[in-house]
Amino acid sequence: MKFSYSNLSFLLLLTLLFSSVSHAQDDTSQKIESLLSKMTLKEKIGQMHQLTGFWDVTGPVPADGDSKAKYQQLRNGEVGSMLNITSVKEVRAIQKIAVEETRLGIPLIFGQDVIHGFKTILPEPLAESASWDMEVIKKGAALAAKEATAAGINWTFAPMVDVSRDARWGRIMEGSGEDPFLSAQIAKARVHGFQGDDLTSPHTLAACAKHFAAYGFSESGKDYNTVDISDLTLHNFVLPPFKAAVDAGASTFMTSFNIIQGVPATANQYLIRDLLKDRWGFEGFVVSDWGSFAEMIVHGYAPDAKFATEKAIVAGTDMDMEAKFFSNHIEELVQNGTVAMEYVDDAVRRILKVKFDLGLFDNPYLYCDEQREKELIGTKENRSIAYESAVKSIVLLKNEASILPLNKSQKVAFIGPMVDDKNISLGNWRLQGEDNSAVSILEALKAKKIKFQHAQGVRLVEKQVSFPFEVQLNTTDLTGIEEAVKLAKEVDVVVLAVGEDGFQAGEGRSRAYIDLPGLQKELVEAVSKVNENIILVNHSGRPLDLTKETALSKAVVQAWHLGTESGNAIVDVLYGAYNPTGKLPVSFPRSVGQLPIYYNHYSTGRPTNPGNDLVFWSHYMDEEETPLFAFGHGLSYSDIQIESFEISSDSMTKEGTIEVKVTLKNNSDIDGSQFLQLYIRDHAASYVRPVKELKDFTKVSLKAGASKTVRMVVDKEDLSFFGPDGELLLEPGVFSVMVGLSSDQLLEKIVTLED
Ligand code: BGC
Repeated sequence: MKFSYSNLSFLLLLTLLFSSVSHAQDDTSQKIESLLSKMTLKEKIGQMHQLTGFWDVTGPVPADGDSKAKYQQLRNGEVGSMLNITSVKEVRAIQKIAVEETRLGIPLIFGQDVIHGFKTILPEPLAESASWDMEVIKKGAALAAKEATAAGINWTFAPMVDVSRDARWGRIMEGSGEDPFLSAQIAKARVHGFQGDDLTSPHTLAACAKHFAAYGFSESGKDYNTVDISDLTLHNFVLPPFKAAVDAGASTFMTSFNIIQGVPATANQYLIRDLLKDRWGFEGFVVSDWGSFAEMIVHGYAPDAKFATEKAIVAGTDMDMEAKFFSNHIEELVQNGTVAMEYVDDAVRRILKVKFDLGLFDNPYLYCDEQREKELIGTKENRSIAYESAVKSIVLLKNEASILPLNKSQKVAFIGPMVDDKNISLGNWRLQGEDNSAVSILEALKAKKIKFQHAQGVRLVEKQVSFPFEVQLNTTDLTGIEEAVKLAKEVDVVVLAVGEDGFQAGEGRSRAYIDLPGLQKELVEAVSKVNENIILVNHSGRPLDLTKETALSKAVVQAWHLGTESGNAIVDVLYGAYNPTGKLPVSFPRSVGQLPIYYNHYSTGRPTNPGNDLVFWSHYMDEEETPLFAFGHGLSYSDIQIESFEISSDSMTKEGTIEVKVTLKNNSDIDGSQFLQLYIRDHAASYVRPVKELKDFTKVSLKAGASKTVRMVVDKEDLSFFGPDGELLLEPGVFSVMVGLSSDQLLEKIVTLED
C-alpha cells in the first residue's frame, strides 16, 4: 500500500470547489452549509458523537452508563446519533429532546445491528449467501428494513461485507464467504434492499458497509486478532465488496477494529480519506466500530487519546461510536491548531447529508408511527419472505444413491438435538426475534402431516446464560443415546439433525475446533452403527469439519441457522417439496489444519507431485489437498449436466469480447435448477493471479428432460486485476475460461488476450 497522504490544502481546495460550484446549485447542500454556519464547534462535535442506548449494549459496557448524564448531553446538543434504542416510544422520546430541546433542533439518527431480520428472523448472512439469489437477498434486506423502520430505526450496521477464508472466525456467519465477486454482488443486493429507491420512505433505512477493512483476515480466525495482508490481497480480495457498496449508494461505512499495514483502520488515512472518500467518491459518513478509538492505544499505535483523536479525524472517520474521544478531545485539538476546522466541517457535512437524505429534517418523527409498529412487524406476509430465503439457502452437499428426497411412506426417525429445537436456528443477531420462536423440524413435520418417529439422543446445550449469551454445552449426559439407537434399528432411514448453537458463531465466538460440539459426534457414531441410511442435517453459522460424519452418512444437508422458518424449509427440502438450489459461498475444510482453505488461491511453485515425490511438494503429509466440499458446490435432486461448452473465439482484443455458449441438460424426471459458474485464470501476470476466480454466474432452470443453451460474455473487466495501489491492470497473455456447476469441477478453454 502506498501511503499518499492527501494534504490539507488539497482537502481545502476540494471543499471550496464543492461548496462553490456544485453545492451552490444543490438545495440540500445549501441547507447543510447554512446550518453548518450556525453551529458552534461544540454542536459540530456533538454530531460526531454516537452514544449507546440506556438499556442494551452490544460491546463492553460503557463506564459512564449513567442515564442522567446522557439526557443532559442530549439536551446540550452533544449527541448526533444513538444506537441500540428500539421501539417507537423510546425513539420518539429521545428524538423529541434533540428536536425540541436543543438550540438547533438537529434530529438524531438511530442505528441498530439489523443483520438478518428484526423480528421475523432471516437466515444468517452467510447462509443467505448460499442462495446465490440476489433477488431473495434484496427482498430479505428490504423486509428487515421494513420491520426495523417500523420500530423507529433508520440506520442499520449492515451489510457486513468482510471476505473471510477462515471457518474458525465466528463472524464468518455475518458475511458472504470467501469470494470477492460473489460478495460484491451480495453487497449490492443488500444495500439496495435496505435503502430501496427512496431513502426518504419510512420503510427504508441507511445501510452501513462494514468493517472497513480486512477484519475477515484476522489471523488464525481469532476475533479482534492482528491482520497482516499484502496490498494485492487488500485490493483484489478485501476491497471489491466495499467498492460495490459505494457504487450501490451505501450511505455509511464502519471502520474495523484491526490494524492494516500497522495502522488501525479507524486512523487509516490511505483507506478512508484517500481511497474511499477521494478515489471512490463516497459522499456518506464513516463511523468507527464500538470503542475502536480507545483500542488504538492498546494496539500500540496511539500514545494517548488526543493522538488517536487527531489521527482518526484526519484519516476521515466522521463519527465516534462509544469511545467518547471526539466529544472529549476535538475541541481542544481544534483550538490549539492541531486539527483544522475543515476536518470537523467535512465530517459534519457528511453526517447532516445522510440525515437530510433520510428525510429527517422534513420530519424527524418519520420513523415514529405506533400504527406501523403494530401492523408491519412479524406479519404472516413477512414470514413468506423468510421461508423463501431459508429454503433457497439450504445446500445439498451429498446425496448417495439418491436417498433424498424422502417419501412420506418411508419409516423415518428424526434424531438429534436440533429436531425439536426452536431457538438455535434463530442464530446470533436475533434482535426482537423472540426466544424459541423458530419453527422446529418437529413442528413442521406435524403441520405437514408427515408420519415420523423422534428421539433427541443428546442435548446440545446444558445452559444458556442471557447477555452475553454464553453457551454451556452438555458434555456429560449420554443417556439418550440408547433410546436413539433402539429407534434407529427399527426404521428405514434416520435423519440426524445436529450442529452448533446460534451463539457458538458470531462476534467474539471463534472456535479452535470446528467439529460437532458437545456429544453429537458420539450420537452420530452410535446411530450410524445400526442404520446405514443416515441423512445428516447440519445447523451451523460456519463451515464445520464434518469429515467423519459425511463418511458415515448417505446424504448431507447444510441447514445453517435459517431463522424463523427453519423447520418448514428443512422439511420441504427433505421431502422434495423444494428441489435444492443452494451453493456453498465458502469451502468446507476436511480438518482445522487445512485452514485457511479457499478455492481462489495462488499456485505455488510446487503445487503437484508429478514424479510421485512423497515429500518435496506443497502438501500436508497427513491431510488431503482438497476441501471436503468446495466453493460453489451444491447438488440438486435433478441430474443436470453440461452437454457442450463453446467459445466464440480463442483470442480477444482489449476492447473486444468473447461469447461463451454452454448447453445444459436435465437428464432426470425432476424439474430443477443449477447455478452455472464462469471462472477465469490468468496464466502469467506481473503479479501472480489465482488458479481460478469466479467472474459470472447464472441460474438455469430446466424442466425434466429439457436442455437449454446459456450465453455469457467475457470482457476486459473479467481479465483485469488490481495492482498494489489499486490500479487496474489488463495484461495481454494466456487465460483459461472455465465453466461448471462447482469450482472444483470445471471445463476449460484457452484464450489469448492480444496486445
Ligand atoms: C461490532 C459491530 C457492531 C457494533 C454495534 C461491534 O462490536 O463489531 O459490527 O455494529 O458493535 O453494535
